[in-house]
Amino acid sequence: MCGIIGYIGREQAAPVMLDGLKRLEYRGYDSSGMAVVGDDGINLCKAEGKIKKLVEKTNGGKNLVGVCGIGHTRWATHGAPSDVNSHPHLSCDGRFAIVHNGIIENHAELRAKLTEQGYTFKSETDSEVVAHLLQKLYDGDMKKALVELMKELKGSYAIGIVFSGTPDRLYAVRKDNPLVIGLGTGENYIASDVAAALAKTHEFVLLGDCEIAEATADGVKYYNANGHQIKKKPYTVDWDIARAEKGGYPHFMLKEIYDQPKALTDTVRPRVVGTEIDLDGITFSRAYLDSLSGIDIVGCGSAYHAGIVGKHFIEKHCRIRVNCTLASEYIYSNPITDEKRLTIIISQSGETADTLAALRLAKKLGSRTMAIVNVVHSAIAREADDVLYTHAGPEIAVATTKGYTTQVAALYLVGLKLACIRGTIEKERYEALLSGLSELHNKAAEQLKDHYVNNIKTYAEAFSKQHCVFFIGRGADYAASLEGALKLKEISYVHAEAYAAGELKHGTISLIEEGTLTLALVTQKELFAKTESNVRAVSSRNGTVLAVASRENSKIKSCVDGLVFIPECDDDLSPVLTAIVLQIFAYYIALQRGCDIDQPRNLAKSVTVE
Ligand code: AGP
Repeated sequence: MCGIIGYIGREQAAPVMLDGLKRLEYRGYDSSGMAVVGDDGINLCKAEGKIKKLVEKTNGGKNLVGVCGIGHTRWATHGAPSDVNSHPHLSCDGRFAIVHNGIIENHAELRAKLTEQGYTFKSETDSEVVAHLLQKLYDGDMKKALVELMKELKGSYAIGIVFSGTPDRLYAVRKDNPLVIGLGTGENYIASDVAAALAKTHEFVLLGDCEIAEATADGVKYYNANGHQIKKKPYTVDWDIARAEKGGYPHFMLKEIYDQPKALTDTVRPRVVGTEIDLDGITFSRAYLDSLSGIDIVGCGSAYHAGIVGKHFIEKHCRIRVNCTLASEYIYSNPITDEKRLTIIISQSGETADTLAALRLAKKLGSRTMAIVNVVHSAIAREADDVLYTHAGPEIAVATTKGYTTQVAALYLVGLKLACIRGTIEKERYEALLSGLSELHNKAAEQLKDHYVNNIKTYAEAFSKQHCVFFIGRGADYAASLEGALKLKEISYVHAEAYAAGELKHGTISLIEEGTLTLALVTQKELFAKTESNVRAVSSRNGTVLAVASRENSKIKSCVDGLVFIPECDDDLSPVLTAIVLQIFAYYIALQRGCDIDQPRNLAKSVTVE
């Protein structure tokens, strides 16, 4: 949600920041801006729309001269997308410029006070108060002003600051919103995520809650909330910059779909040691697992959908009851949890505000927490008792693909490990599933061969004018259908609904009329007869059905209008392969409809507001 970049060094700041902003655009993309400290004070440029507008307005950054600056790409929360509401915001005297991610919860109160004291506001944003407060609090000592600033602000924030009085310094503070310091040679960066500075450095420092960073070209000093200097340890991010670039693909989403064989390998292979699973040293005793009253899986959007696949798998093989809850509901549901429940928190970004709040609540109530997260050192990864990283690499497209399939793979590893410890799975079954899981990346690679993709593409092109699509399935197929429907609606704006196949007849089937498209997922052999009858109910009402099926269920052919087979795999593992079909389907529908695939309207990659 919104992206921040700041630069202090010896190069011109604006072109460097534009490169960083382009890499951050996935975090928010309704407007952007930069402020650079020049000889004549702070120069500012803002533009409504995509970063390319800012590139044009600043002539590739050449119009903003100076070696110290801050930039921002915005996803509007307070105030519509517009030039004036874009960041950076200036203080009334023009000496302070700030960029902000998060929400200042007491902004109305602060705004009223500052207005009374003669400060004038230009924007409708909550963020602008920060610039005016800094002007008010500064008495010659910037560190002191920042300590006081944090006392005044309520809510969540990552803030980058430049001040015309110190043109060789870049400042940052943060609370409950991610901010990293990128350490270069003769230059340093601040950024809301590592992707923005990865082209320049792999060494980062994570700024902690209520900490201050003061960066010059040659070093960075850190202070705690009381203004005392502290030491911070850098960490290395081994992501290759090429993995955060399109690499010749027209869209990040397509590239990330094609990344899946590698992402699945990287997530599964290091954890499989012979016939054993090593969850990076995370241990569960038999006594602990037997004492559990249940497991809660919590996440948002696709992470929640991955959780539903995990619920099916864990309940089936571990015989432990699993509740899967949306994080935004969990936090306000007065959850019944304690040390007798294990809470699995799922998040690609590791920064989703609802999910983070759920993690904190579960911990507070005494539950052991385990996070399944992609972004290393993210808030959820740091705060959970245990973390199992998915190794999907950077995911840039707003619509998650490899993020989701690696979460599902990680849940399979967890499920198998727990089943093994509890002794609820036969040895042969365990080994068959483990071998199937270790082979999933090869099956994914089969699906990405041209002939396979082209077949799905042909269907997508034929169905691209649909106004409404249903996704149905039973058991693991139902879990997979939820993700298929979300993928289609978020990038192509086609109304899509997922239904448990048996539930359709309890109301929704009234919407099926001639030509209405239903995607039927038919990969579960045991459930074939029941699903087939649900499919027939749709086709006999002249609905159009495209089935995604296993070869074993090829009999479905007789009652559908189109058919895509997934590669042969264990029925329990099929959601990963089904997801890949549905991602490709959604991608080509969106392409056909001329949608902005990587940056769909109204969305942001990392949702750091509740
Ligand atoms: C999926 O395509 C979405 N963009 C979205 O539902 C996402 O999965 C959700 O916001 C959760 O994000 P997280 O995994 O980073 O927590």
